[in-house]
Amino acid sequence: MLVLGIETSCDETGLALVADGRKILGAQLASSLPLHQRFGGVVPEVASRAHVELLTYELESLLGSSGISPDSIDRIAVTHGPGLPGCLLVGVAAAKALALAWDKPLIAVNHLKAHLYAALLEHPELPLEAPMIGLVISGGHTALVRMDGIHRMKLLGQTRDDAVGEAFDKVAKLLQLGFPGGPEIERTAKTGNPRAVRFTVPRIKSGTPYDFSLSGIKTAVLYRVREKPGAEKDPQFVADLAASFQSSVVEEVVQKTVAACEQYRINQLVVGGGVVANQLLRDRLQQACSERKIEVGIPSMKLCTDNGTMVAGLGAHLQPVRPADLTAVPDLRVETAETEVAA
Ligand code: KG4
Ligand code: ZN
Repeated sequence: MLVLGIETSCDETGLALVADGRKILGAQLASSLPLHQRFGGVVPEVASRAHVELLTYELESLLGSSGISPDSIDRIAVTHGPGLPGCLLVGVAAAKALALAWDKPLIAVNHLKAHLYAALLEHPELPLEAPMIGLVISGGHTALVRMDGIHRMKLLGQTRDDAVGEAFDKVAKLLQLGFPGGPEIERTAKTGNPRAVRFTVPRIKSGTPYDFSLSGIKTAVLYRVREKPGAEKDPQFVADLAASFQSSVVEEVVQKTVAACEQYRINQLVVGGGVVANQLLRDRLQQACSERKIEVGIPSMKLCTDNGTMVAGLGAHLQPVRPADLTAVPDLRVETAETEVAA
């Protein structure tokens, strides 16, 4: 089963050809990030236009470099949510056009499930249909789920305010670092002392024990910066704040995730999303899981951030939809079943 995957939910235009849900035969990735950097965040219209400009070119490069003809492709899978509406529509329109032109079945992929599938794609030792805990942490989403295989998900916790990646982006802005903030904070934190400032994450009284709230830490960073006018020009001050912030967020994420594994007695964990590219988080997750004998699937760096491979991979496991039923769903939830969307 050879699947062409198309990802355009935010600023990355990703295309990939994956056989049988695991074997990557080719992948292309282009980002409109440089166009957004001066605005300090992704500008939706600019990102949509870039997808339009990049998609056809990337498809030609993918088919050319892999030597695969459209005849050999069995399905077209596309991210249809969640994401930026205009961006999603570009991918969905392209996928529908290709499915009609080439007469191929069309598959609607949930971007958040695709992030979780990235870990399974690269870890054949993890059974696909087992009960698992899943954690997606990206620029737009934070979701902790209980999974029965890749099809059934129950939401255990989500963010009450900022997504984890969003918190990194906002704190980086406060510290006058670049965008996206995650990699900038990580780089700056290398020369900082993670114990310089003790940030505490407030306990949330309502909601579930697995909900996240990071706006308190973000505000605490803001107060530190305001306390010392001009301090954001002091490299050691900035590095200490970046390191302390990073370490507090990582501990919060790791602690909640392993607590969910323990409470539900599930010893298989998969994680995904851009923030999983953070090395401290990867190391702390590995360590916490190995201490508790939890098997953890962490995607390689290139499959943490948005890409077409995870979409093509998951596409092998889903049922086709009728082109007329497929549309962009910007607020699609991680636990929404494919059958509910395609109905
Ligand atoms: O999954 P992704 O590429 O796009 C979304 O679906 O949102 O995630 C992007 C997010 C951004 O907020 C970015 O700052 C964060 O992932 N990120 C990181 C790192 N690399 C990317 N956060 C922390 N540490 C990193 N190394
Ligand atoms: Zn993403």
